[in-house]
Amino acid sequence: MDRIKSGTRKINQMPRKALIAANWKMFKTPAEAKAFTDAFLPLVAGHDRDEIALFPSVTSLATVVEAAAGSNVAVGLQNMHFAEEGAYTGETSAAMLKAVGATHVLIGHSERRQYFNETDEVVNKKLHTALKHGIVPVVCVGEHLHERETGQTGLVLLKQLQGALHNIDSAHAHSLVIAYEPVWAIGTGRTATPEMAIEAHMIIRAELANIFDSHFAKATRILYGGSVKPENASELLGQDEIDGALVGGASLKPESFAAIVKY
Ligand code: PGA
Repeated sequence: MDRIKSGTRKINQMPRKALIAANWKMFKTPAEAKAFTDAFLPLVAGHDRDEIALFPSVTSLATVVEAAAGSNVAVGLQNMHFAEEGAYTGETSAAMLKAVGATHVLIGHSERRQYFNETDEVVNKKLHTALKHGIVPVVCVGEHLHERETGQTGLVLLKQLQGALHNIDSAHAHSLVIAYEPVWAIGTGRTATPEMAIEAHMIIRAELANIFDSHFAKATRILYGGSVKPENASELLGQDEIDGALVGGASLKPESFAAIVKY
Protein backbone atom coordinates (compact mmCIF):
# COMPACT_ATOMS: atom_id res chain seq x y z
CA MET A 1 0.00 0.00 0.00
CA ASP A 2 1.28 3.37 -0.97
CA ARG A 3 0.22 6.17 1.32
CA ILE A 4 1.82 9.57 1.56
CA LYS A 5 2.06 11.64 4.68
CA SER A 6 -0.93 13.89 4.16
CA GLY A 7 -3.15 10.84 4.26
CA THR A 8 -3.78 10.81 0.55
CA ARG A 9 -2.99 7.93 -1.78
CA LYS A 10 -0.54 8.56 -4.52
CA ILE A 11 -1.34 6.67 -7.65
CA ASN A 12 0.38 7.89 -10.80
CA GLN A 13 0.75 11.25 -9.08
CA MET A 14 -3.03 11.51 -8.51
CA PRO A 15 -3.86 11.83 -4.82
CA ARG A 16 -7.17 10.41 -3.63
CA LYS A 17 -8.23 11.02 -0.06
CA ALA A 18 -10.41 8.19 1.16
CA LEU A 19 -13.99 8.89 2.23
CA ILE A 20 -15.53 6.81 5.01
CA ALA A 21 -19.28 7.35 5.06
CA ALA A 22 -22.07 6.25 7.40
CA ASN A 23 -25.42 5.47 5.77
CA TRP A 24 -27.89 5.34 8.65
CA LYS A 25 -30.83 4.43 6.40
CA MET A 26 -34.18 4.70 8.26
CA PHE A 27 -32.65 4.57 11.72
CA LYS A 28 -32.25 7.17 14.50
CA THR A 29 -34.51 9.94 15.74
CA PRO A 30 -32.93 13.42 16.04
CA ALA A 31 -32.15 12.75 19.73
CA GLU A 32 -30.45 9.46 18.85
CA ALA A 33 -28.59 11.07 15.96
CA LYS A 34 -27.33 13.82 18.28
CA ALA A 35 -26.26 11.29 20.93
CA PHE A 36 -24.32 9.39 18.24
CA THR A 37 -22.61 12.53 16.96
CA ASP A 38 -21.68 13.76 20.43
CA ALA A 39 -20.13 10.39 21.25
CA PHE A 40 -18.50 9.91 17.85
CA LEU A 41 -16.72 13.25 17.36
CA PRO A 42 -14.23 12.81 20.23
CA LEU A 43 -13.38 9.32 18.92
CA VAL A 44 -12.26 10.71 15.54
CA ALA A 45 -11.02 14.15 16.65
CA GLY A 46 -7.91 15.11 14.70
CA HIS A 47 -8.30 12.24 12.22
CA ASP A 48 -7.38 13.68 8.85
CA ARG A 49 -6.11 10.66 6.94
CA ASP A 50 -9.62 10.17 5.55
CA GLU A 51 -12.70 12.29 5.00
CA ILE A 52 -15.60 11.28 7.22
CA ALA A 53 -19.29 11.82 6.43
CA LEU A 54 -22.56 10.96 8.16
CA PHE A 55 -25.78 10.44 6.19
CA PRO A 56 -28.72 10.69 8.61
CA SER A 57 -32.41 10.68 7.67
CA VAL A 58 -33.98 13.97 6.65
CA THR A 59 -35.52 14.70 10.07
CA SER A 60 -32.10 14.44 11.74
CA LEU A 61 -30.15 16.34 9.11
CA ALA A 62 -30.17 19.79 10.76
CA THR A 63 -29.46 18.29 14.19
CA VAL A 64 -26.41 16.39 12.94
CA VAL A 65 -25.10 19.37 10.93
CA GLU A 66 -25.33 21.49 14.07
CA ALA A 67 -23.76 18.86 16.31
CA ALA A 68 -20.87 18.34 13.84
CA ALA A 69 -20.27 22.04 13.11
CA GLY A 70 -16.58 22.93 13.18
CA SER A 71 -15.49 19.27 13.28
CA ASN A 72 -13.77 17.06 10.72
CA VAL A 73 -17.07 15.31 9.95
CA ALA A 74 -19.26 16.26 6.98
CA VAL A 75 -22.98 15.60 6.70
CA GLY A 76 -25.11 14.54 3.76
CA LEU A 77 -28.57 13.28 2.89
CA GLN A 78 -29.46 9.78 1.71
CA ASN A 79 -31.56 10.99 -1.21
CA MET A 80 -32.90 14.13 -2.86
CA HIS A 81 -35.20 15.04 -5.73
CA PHE A 82 -33.79 16.24 -9.05
CA ALA A 83 -36.29 19.10 -9.48
CA GLU A 84 -35.48 22.56 -8.14
CA GLU A 85 -38.85 22.70 -6.38
CA GLY A 86 -42.43 21.74 -7.09
CA ALA A 87 -45.38 19.52 -6.29
CA TYR A 88 -43.43 16.44 -5.19
CA THR A 89 -44.99 15.42 -1.92
CA GLY A 90 -42.52 13.93 0.53
CA GLU A 91 -39.38 14.91 -1.36
CA THR A 92 -36.38 17.10 -0.46
CA SER A 93 -34.67 19.49 -2.89
CA ALA A 94 -31.00 20.32 -3.33
CA ALA A 95 -31.60 23.86 -2.07
CA MET A 96 -33.28 22.51 1.09
CA LEU A 97 -30.37 20.16 1.73
CA LYS A 98 -27.85 22.97 1.29
CA ALA A 99 -29.82 25.48 3.36
CA VAL A 100 -29.53 23.16 6.34
CA GLY A 101 -25.75 22.95 5.87
CA ALA A 102 -25.43 19.49 4.36
CA THR A 103 -22.72 19.05 1.73
CA HIS A 104 -23.10 15.49 0.38
CA VAL A 105 -25.83 13.31 -1.07
CA LEU A 106 -26.22 9.59 -1.80
CA ILE A 107 -27.66 8.96 -5.26
CA GLY A 108 -29.06 5.69 -6.56
CA HIS A 109 -28.52 3.54 -3.48
CA SER A 110 -29.66 0.00 -4.31
CA GLU A 111 -32.51 0.28 -1.80
CA ARG A 112 -33.75 3.37 -3.67
CA ARG A 113 -33.46 1.48 -6.95
CA GLN A 114 -35.16 -1.63 -5.53
CA TYR A 115 -37.99 -0.19 -3.43
CA PHE A 116 -38.58 3.22 -5.00
CA ASN A 117 -38.13 2.44 -8.68
CA GLU A 118 -35.11 4.66 -9.07
CA THR A 119 -33.80 4.10 -12.59
CA ASP A 120 -30.47 5.02 -14.18
CA GLU A 121 -32.30 7.92 -15.82
CA VAL A 122 -33.47 9.28 -12.46
CA VAL A 123 -29.98 8.76 -11.03
CA ASN A 124 -28.61 10.80 -13.94
CA LYS A 125 -31.06 13.66 -13.34
CA LYS A 126 -30.20 13.71 -9.64
CA LEU A 127 -26.50 13.77 -10.43
CA HIS A 128 -26.93 16.75 -12.75
CA THR A 129 -28.81 18.58 -9.98
CA ALA A 130 -26.28 17.75 -7.27
CA LEU A 131 -23.34 18.94 -9.38
CA LYS A 132 -25.20 22.11 -10.37
CA HIS A 133 -25.68 22.91 -6.68
CA GLY A 134 -22.12 22.04 -5.63
CA ILE A 135 -23.23 19.07 -3.55
CA VAL A 136 -20.78 16.15 -3.37
CA PRO A 137 -22.59 13.22 -5.05
CA VAL A 138 -21.96 9.63 -4.01
CA VAL A 139 -23.42 7.58 -6.85
CA CYS A 140 -24.08 3.95 -5.92
CA VAL A 141 -23.76 1.07 -8.38
CA GLY A 142 -23.64 -2.69 -7.94
CA GLU A 143 -24.91 -6.02 -9.18
CA HIS A 144 -27.50 -8.43 -7.80
CA LEU A 145 -26.48 -11.96 -6.83
CA HIS A 146 -28.05 -13.58 -9.91
CA GLU A 147 -26.20 -11.09 -12.10
CA ARG A 148 -22.88 -12.00 -10.50
CA GLU A 149 -23.65 -15.70 -10.73
CA THR A 150 -24.43 -15.41 -14.43
CA GLY A 151 -21.27 -13.45 -15.18
CA GLN A 152 -23.00 -10.13 -15.80
CA THR A 153 -21.31 -8.00 -13.13
CA GLY A 154 -19.21 -6.02 -15.60
CA LEU A 155 -22.14 -5.40 -17.93
CA VAL A 156 -24.37 -4.22 -15.09
CA LEU A 157 -21.72 -1.81 -13.82
CA LEU A 158 -21.16 -0.37 -17.31
CA LYS A 159 -24.88 0.11 -17.88
CA GLN A 160 -25.36 1.82 -14.52
CA LEU A 161 -22.35 4.08 -15.03
CA GLN A 162 -23.22 5.04 -18.58
CA GLY A 163 -26.78 5.82 -17.45
CA ALA A 164 -25.69 7.80 -14.39
CA LEU A 165 -23.04 9.81 -16.23
CA HIS A 166 -24.99 10.60 -19.40
CA ASN A 167 -24.21 14.15 -20.54
CA ILE A 168 -22.22 14.92 -17.40
CA ASP A 169 -19.45 17.42 -18.08
CA SER A 170 -16.25 16.17 -16.45
CA ALA A 171 -15.09 19.78 -15.98
CA HIS A 172 -17.86 20.19 -13.40
CA ALA A 173 -17.76 16.72 -11.92
CA HIS A 174 -14.52 16.69 -9.92
CA SER A 175 -16.39 16.03 -6.69
CA LEU A 176 -17.99 12.85 -8.07
CA VAL A 177 -17.66 9.80 -5.82
CA ILE A 178 -18.74 6.32 -6.93
CA ALA A 179 -19.72 3.67 -4.39
CA TYR A 180 -19.49 0.06 -5.54
CA GLU A 181 -22.06 -1.82 -3.50
CA PRO A 182 -22.81 -5.38 -4.60
CA VAL A 183 -26.48 -5.78 -3.66
CA TRP A 184 -25.91 -9.31 -2.31
CA ALA A 185 -23.43 -7.92 0.25
CA ILE A 186 -25.67 -5.17 1.65
CA GLY A 187 -27.00 -5.92 5.10
CA THR A 188 -26.37 -9.64 4.62
CA GLY A 189 -23.09 -10.08 6.47
CA ARG A 190 -21.67 -11.37 3.19
CA THR A 191 -18.78 -9.18 2.14
CA ALA A 192 -17.08 -9.10 -1.24
CA THR A 193 -13.51 -10.36 -0.96
CA PRO A 194 -10.87 -7.67 -1.55
CA GLU A 195 -10.18 -9.36 -4.91
CA MET A 196 -13.84 -9.10 -5.96
CA ALA A 197 -14.01 -5.45 -4.89
CA ILE A 198 -10.75 -4.60 -6.65
CA GLU A 199 -11.91 -6.27 -9.85
CA ALA A 200 -15.17 -4.29 -9.83
CA HIS A 201 -13.37 -1.04 -8.96
CA MET A 202 -11.02 -1.55 -11.89
CA ILE A 203 -13.97 -2.06 -14.24
CA ILE A 204 -15.52 1.15 -12.91
CA ARG A 205 -12.28 3.12 -13.20
CA ALA A 206 -11.71 1.90 -16.74
CA GLU A 207 -15.22 2.99 -17.70
CA LEU A 208 -14.66 6.42 -16.10
CA ALA A 209 -11.57 6.72 -18.30
CA ASN A 210 -13.65 5.67 -21.29
CA ILE A 211 -16.49 8.12 -20.60
CA PHE A 212 -14.26 11.01 -19.47
CA ASP A 213 -10.49 10.51 -19.56
CA SER A 214 -7.81 8.65 -17.65
CA HIS A 215 -6.82 11.70 -15.63
CA PHE A 216 -10.39 12.01 -14.35
CA ALA A 217 -10.62 8.27 -13.70
CA LYS A 218 -7.43 8.23 -11.64
CA ALA A 219 -8.62 11.16 -9.53
CA THR A 220 -12.11 9.78 -8.80
CA ARG A 221 -12.77 8.08 -5.51
CA ILE A 222 -14.44 4.68 -5.65
CA LEU A 223 -15.78 3.44 -2.32
CA TYR A 224 -16.73 -0.11 -1.41
CA GLY A 225 -19.97 -0.81 0.48
CA GLY A 226 -21.64 -4.00 1.69
CA SER A 227 -21.24 -5.42 5.21
CA VAL A 228 -18.12 -3.40 6.03
CA LYS A 229 -17.38 -3.78 9.74
CA PRO A 230 -14.43 -3.21 12.08
CA GLU A 231 -13.26 -6.81 11.54
CA ASN A 232 -12.93 -6.54 7.75
CA ALA A 233 -12.23 -2.81 7.31
CA SER A 234 -8.47 -3.02 7.05
CA GLU A 235 -8.34 -5.84 4.51
CA LEU A 236 -10.73 -3.89 2.26
CA LEU A 237 -9.64 -0.31 2.92
CA GLY A 238 -5.98 -1.23 2.86
CA GLN A 239 -6.22 -1.78 -0.90
CA ASP A 240 -4.96 1.05 -3.10
CA GLU A 241 -7.89 0.54 -5.46
CA ILE A 242 -10.48 1.02 -2.65
CA ASP A 243 -10.84 4.69 -1.74
CA GLY A 244 -13.07 4.38 1.29
CA ALA A 245 -16.29 2.76 2.43
CA LEU A 246 -20.02 3.30 2.58
CA VAL A 247 -21.12 1.64 5.80
CA GLY A 248 -24.67 0.77 6.85
CA GLY A 249 -25.28 -1.48 9.85
CA ALA A 250 -21.83 -1.09 11.39
CA SER A 251 -22.11 2.72 11.28
CA LEU A 252 -25.00 2.88 13.75
CA LYS A 253 -22.79 2.67 16.86
CA PRO A 254 -20.13 5.37 17.44
CA GLU A 255 -17.43 2.92 18.60
CA SER A 256 -18.00 0.60 15.67
CA PHE A 257 -17.96 3.34 13.03
CA ALA A 258 -14.94 5.01 14.66
CA ALA A 259 -13.09 1.67 14.55
CA ILE A 260 -13.79 1.47 10.81
CA VAL A 261 -12.62 5.06 10.26
CA LYS A 262 -9.42 4.30 12.16
CA TYR A 263 -8.83 0.84 10.67
P1 PGA B 1 -24.38 -2.52 5.14
O1 PGA B 1 -25.03 -1.39 4.19
O2 PGA B 1 -23.05 -1.98 5.60
O3 PGA B 1 -25.36 -2.67 6.27
O4 PGA B 1 -24.24 -3.75 4.33
C1 PGA B 1 -24.24 -0.69 3.27
C2 PGA B 1 -25.09 0.27 2.48
O5 PGA B 1 -26.26 -0.06 2.19
O6 PGA B 1 -24.64 1.37 2.12
